[in-house]
This record gives sequence, structure tokens and C-alpha cells, in this order.
Amino acid sequence: MSKSLSNKIRFATKAIHAGQSADPNNGAVMMPIYLTSTYLQDGIEKPRQGYEYSRVTNPTRTALENNLASLEDGKYGMVFGSGMAAIDSLFHLLKPNDHIIFSKSIYGGSYRIANSIWKNFNLNFSFVDTTNINEVEKVFNKNTKMIFVETPTNPTMEITDIKLISNFAKKNKLISVVDNTFATPYLQQPLKFGIDVVVHSLTKYLNGHSDMLGGAVITSDKKIAEQIKYFQKCIGGILSPFDSWLCLRGTKTLHIRMEEHCKNAMKIAEFLSQEKKIKKIFYPGLTSHPQHKLAKRQMKNFGGMISFDIGNLKNVKKFVDKLKVCTLAESLGGVETLICHPATMTHSAIPKEERDKSGITEGLIRISVGIENVNDLIDDLKSALK
Ligand SMILES: Cc1ncc(COP(=O)(O)O)c(C=O)c1O
Repeated sequence: MSKSLSNKIRFATKAIHAGQSADPNNGAVMMPIYLTSTYLQDGIEKPRQGYEYSRVTNPTRTALENNLASLEDGKYGMVFGSGMAAIDSLFHLLKPNDHIIFSKSIYGGSYRIANSIWKNFNLNFSFVDTTNINEVEKVFNKNTKMIFVETPTNPTMEITDIKLISNFAKKNKLISVVDNTFATPYLQQPLKFGIDVVVHSLTKYLNGHSDMLGGAVITSDKKIAEQIKYFQKCIGGILSPFDSWLCLRGTKTLHIRMEEHCKNAMKIAEFLSQEKKIKKIFYPGLTSHPQHKLAKRQMKNFGGMISFDIGNLKNVKKFVDKLKVCTLAESLGGVETLICHPATMTHSAIPKEERDKSGITEGLIRISVGIENVNDLIDDLKSALK
């Protein structure tokens, strides 16, 4: 059930309508939650409307998959039970001895799955500074099959030049992947730069309300899409109809929420950059950020994520104990402001030496700026910094 929308419709209209239309049976305007595992068949080899079994396809899930594909300007969307399940599906595209190039500063779970699980299937990895194409070229070898980039990176907000990576991947026949979780398709659309695959943790901005987990793979490459759909069917790590519905409700307001996240984050980054107790601040919207110009070129705005360093763990503990509005918790991208300490929380799976090399120090704090009144957030941070 999908409206036939013109190719020219704009982001906000896609966010609300793409992948959905009124129920043909009763006219329900909102997509129902199809809580069914199986479907009536009209005869042998005659599934009604193509649905046979919900591990393979489910109408609520299909609506979300088409909605997300449309938002990323891709042809195919496949959703999973978490961002990690979506990322894991990519590994099934590879064979033993294949080599993958990763951004060195990356979500801790992506590092963990590579180093503790994929490694056992004889896949090889290089974690390099993908902001520098020379570093990428140095580790490329005849077995390299995939390049996986996170931009902005979690948590140090480095920006990789998506077009350069896409050109490099095309020249060397690699599958190029961008984890677009931090930016969302509202701020950045990697497929438009020639990237093959976009992955998302739907748990974050796309759902936006911190009340479900999900992941997505989006591509315009028919062969990759067929393979990933086959993995959904064989392995079954798919998103439930209820969580698909929650996320579909979230994407309807993505554009509005992202505008507010960006506005609040810019004001908070400006406030933090005036504070003497802060040793370093990472936000691509600040002109002091080393890749500010690149971020401006490839992103519509700079997002809602900021990291800053207050020196050491003792300071971090004192700071988080004083917060009243911001909540100390893992995750990001919800309407509420969350504060996290990457070294002991989201990035604890990365060995300390590696963390230090990537700037994930004991004094580093990550803030997922919510859409509360920004003055209340600044007051909260100000009194905690005292
Ligand atoms: C950039 C990024 N990618 C992927 C993931 C994994 O997503 P999930 O927690 O939904 O499995 C996360 C989780 O924090 C993330 O920050």
C-alpha cells in the first residue's frame, strides 16, 4: 500500500507520506500495525498481495522500508531489529579473507562486531583515519572488498569526504557503506554522492523518541538489495510490526526535530566554546572544527551531537552528578538531552590505547542535544560545570 507520489516531492512530504496510503479495506489513514505472522493464500502458489510469512515481508514493515528508502533517495530499504543487526547483515555480503576498511573513530559496537565476531570468519580489517584518503590508500590491498565510513564519527565528530570515498570505492570496485545515523537523511544523503549502501540505527533520530530499537540498510543497487532481503528471510533479524509502526510515526516529524536539534546544538556549542574548563570541543558547526568547510559542503546543517573534554574522569563524575535536566544514559537522537561518557559507556569495547589514539579520552563527554528549551539546557550545563 503505497501512494504513487511524483519524483519531485520534497523531503517533508516524503517523510509524512512515502511508503503509505489509506488502507484499501477500510480507509484507515494511518498505517495499521499488522500483527500477523502469516497470510491467507488464494490457492497453491497464489499468495494474496505477495505476502506469505512475516519474517519475509509484513505490510507495516514494508511501509517503513519504503519510507526510509524514499528519504535517503534510494530504491530499496530493509529494516532490522537493531542498528547492529543491520550492520551485521553487511558482513554476509563478504567471503573469508576479504578485507574491510573502517573509519578508525567509529561506534564501539561496530568495532566490537568486527574484532570479536567477523574476525572469526577470517575477515580482515583496517581501522584508519578516513578523513585522510592517503591513509585509506595505504591499507588498500587486493583482498579489500568494502569500505565502511561513519561521518560524523561517534563520538569525535570527524567528517569524511563522502565523494572522495565513493570515487575511491568505484575505482577499486569496493562496496562503499556510510553509517548515516548521526546525520540522518535530512542532513546528508550519501547515496547522492555515489555511495552504494547507507546503514542506520533507527533507534536514534529516525525514530527520535527513545522508545524502540531498529536498524536499516538502504541502497539503490538491485543486487545488494536482493542479497540483503535474502538474509532477512534466512536469518530473520527483522523489525517487528509494532516497532516498524513506532519508527514510521517518528519519521513523520524528522525534518522538524532535526531543525530544532541543530539550532539547540549550535547554541550549546557556542556556549561551551566560551567555557574555560573545557579543554576541547568537537562540533562540526564551529568554524574551529578542522572539517567545518567540508561539513558545510556535504551536510545541510551540523546535527545535534557535540563532544567536549573536561580533562579527567574525576571531573566527569562531578559534572554528571550535578545535572538536573540532561540525563546520563547511553544512546542519542531522542527529543530529550542525553549525556554519555564514551570511554566507560558506548566505546568501552575499544581498548584504551586505541581509544586514546582516536581522542576518546577519560575526560570526554558526549551530548545528544534534545529539543527542550535551550536556555534550560545551558543553565543545567553551566551549573554542572561550576
Ligand atoms: C553510529 C551508530 N551506528 C550504529 C549503532 C548501533 O545501533 P543499535 O544500538 O540500534 O544497534 C549505534 C548505536 O549507538 C550508533 O551510534
